[in-house]
Amino acid sequence: MSDLEIVKYPDPVLRRVAKPIAAVTDEVRALASAMIALMYKDKGVGLAAPQVSQSVRLFVMNPTGEPQDERIFVNPQILEKSKAKAKSNEGCLSLPDVNGKIERHLKIRLSALDADGREIELDLEEFPARVAQHEIDHLDGVLIIDRMSLAEKTIADRKLKDLIREYQQREAAAQAAKKPTRAAKA
Ligand code: CO
Repeated sequence: MSDLEIVKYPDPVLRRVAKPIAAVTDEVRALASAMIALMYKDKGVGLAAPQVSQSVRLFVMNPTGEPQDERIFVNPQILEKSKAKAKSNEGCLSLPDVNGKIERHLKIRLSALDADGREIELDLEEFPARVAQHEIDHLDGVLIIDRMSLAEKTIADRKLKDLIREYQQREAAAQAAKKPTRAAKA
């Protein structure tokens, strides 16, 4: 799992609806641990499995950075959400240098399986609720650019074009590397 990398927009995995996880196995726990390490390395507060090319319903978060606030959510579901919403600035590790004021429910009640496969239910509010909603969006193929105002999207547009160009260049390089060369065939 040490070769996990955060994929960037417009990688198509970010737009897929992720599949539920059948059982919380050692493999799932290893993936979650690797995601937590990557999240800290990139100074994020949350990371969803599609962001590491795994289209499964798993996310990790730590809204404070304190060890006791580190959490793993498998197959999360929002059971209840407050009518009250708030707008605040959000970024995304898969959309570097793109930011927008995103409206989220202030409070949510969440169900999920924890790292031991046990059913948990918890109430989140304010910042942790915001992070969880951002990550659950990822599991449904939704990105912050889908929730930004037109004005913000216009500002982000140049950066998005750069990201698309960089993605295409990486894809082309990966394709070229796969093609056997004459030397390799000899
Ligand atoms: Co994100």
